[in-house]
Amino acid sequence: MSNERKILELKDKKEKAHLGGGQKSIEKQHQKGKLTARERIDLLLDKGSFEELDMFRTTTHSDFGLADKQIFGDGIITGYGSIDGRLVFVYSFDFTVFGGSLSQVVAEKVVKIQEMAAKNGAPIIGINDSGGARIQEGVDSLAGYTSIFLNNVLYSGVIPQISAVVGPAAGGAVYSPALTDFIFMARNTSFMFLTGPKIVKAVTHEDITADELGGADVHSTKSGITHFTFDDEQSLFQGIRQLMKYLPNNNMEEPAIVPNDDPADRVEEDLNYIVPEHPNKPYDMKGIILNVLDEGKFLEIQEQYAPNIIIGFGDLSGRAVGVVANQPKVLAGVLDSNASTKAARFIRFCDAFNIPIITFEDVPGFMPGTVQEFNGIIRHGAKMLYAYAEATVPKLTVITRKAYGGAFCVMNSKHLRGDMVYAWPTAEIAVMGPEGASEIIYAKEIKSSENPDDKLQEKISEYREKFANPYVAANKGMIDEVIEPKITRYKLIKALEMLRNKRDENPPKKHGNIPL
Ligand code: HXC
Repeated sequence: MSNERKILELKDKKEKAHLGGGQKSIEKQHQKGKLTARERIDLLLDKGSFEELDMFRTTTHSDFGLADKQIFGDGIITGYGSIDGRLVFVYSFDFTVFGGSLSQVVAEKVVKIQEMAAKNGAPIIGINDSGGARIQEGVDSLAGYTSIFLNNVLYSGVIPQISAVVGPAAGGAVYSPALTDFIFMARNTSFMFLTGPKIVKAVTHEDITADELGGADVHSTKSGITHFTFDDEQSLFQGIRQLMKYLPNNNMEEPAIVPNDDPADRVEEDLNYIVPEHPNKPYDMKGIILNVLDEGKFLEIQEQYAPNIIIGFGDLSGRAVGVVANQPKVLAGVLDSNASTKAARFIRFCDAFNIPIITFEDVPGFMPGTVQEFNGIIRHGAKMLYAYAEATVPKLTVITRKAYGGAFCVMNSKHLRGDMVYAWPTAEIAVMGPEGASEIIYAKEIKSSENPDDKLQEKISEYREKFANPYVAANKGMIDEVIEPKITRYKLIKALEMLRNKRDENPPKKHGNIPL
């Protein structure tokens, strides 16, 4: 064969590979409101940057008629490219080939990309649209999944791992995304469940649709499985690009510093008045976060799940920071099991990838009651405590109002190695809120009084006057500085500069035993 014909043959094969399961299947995919695996990669990566590997791999199995169904790529497209010029590795399940099911070859292709990403210290993004284990390939498919899971775990905390779920993720297909750092889902087309509606009906007799069982809204509000939810795939892939701006390439690097025009010493008079004078009146902590961060930009994560705590990324003087903040507007910002788990995982991500953590605190304590106690709030709250305690990145705290009890200890206090703990003059720092404390320590006095209600109010006022302020803690060095709210941004930026070369270590160990 002449060279020319050989090149034509290559082009022909590539064209075939580009069609995946064929034009009809592509049309079917579009009719379902979904993009193809290649269209998704194009949306995700910088234009023209994608380099594909293993395009010509086909199934190695022949049972169940597979011998006659050799399709180039075998249901997944893998390779590397760039996002804003930065190297990333990517794999994209092709639903037009056997429903994107995971075969032995598909698994080998993913594993290869995972290993290349780890070796080259670059983030990896998996685009999932899959019917789970390829049934025809039996245990080889299960073994394939397991190899992917193993790599997800080995590279956890080494390179950022991101999952887009843009179709079904059933059975084994859910666990790789679950092991990665962030999951993105699209409304109406994304589903994640271990067992689908039919099996649910057979086992538990529940009648439920795929969307009700494992749609994007379920996972963003009820289970907390997903971190970001979008209305369509186009905005979802833009969302991943946005998130990437805050992440370093790997655990040996820091996120890039991207200077902007927002002055470090910007003063925000409004912050002096944002905390209401009445201690039980709610306000929106996001107002403070947006005022403090560069250009008022904040990428919130798990916005609809456990909204009594806020987590997300922003910049301070061009440097990425992770924000953890109580939200007094929701359940008074109380810490419950879901809020604790949500924050703990985020804190550990930031620590693993050298992202400083800024904590804004206004918390009346942990949520009391049987629901929380029976659900294990002791264990879940301990996760957050553990995460803050072991984190060695720069850790700054701003107490805006309440910091009571165990919640004060947990929310990056000085004794958890908080590097700088600031308090606003509106801060109330004590072992308990004035109401609860007065009822306990003055119980006899109140009971024997002629007018117990008046006595209780008198004691509450006394207690508030004496203890519900930042100065008792400041007097003991538990607060580094009481600051005027309007200069919070400047103070945080100065502290981050001071901590630029912070070195802190934990004792040598194989790994700790976080209360899971
Ligand atoms: C082989 C599969 C497949 C699979 C789908 N297909 N899933 N082929 N193995 N797991 C094929 C279909 O036969 C069909 O082929 C094509 O993909 C498209 O599927 P449709 O059913 O037409 O698409 P849709 O209506 O959109 O439904 C998608 C779906 C459904 C919800 C994913 O296909 C489905 O329920 N699939 C099975 C899901 C499942 O139970 N997976 C196994 C899980 S066990 P044709 O030729 O007709 O186009 C598992 C264990 C691993 O994963 C555990 C590891 C820890």
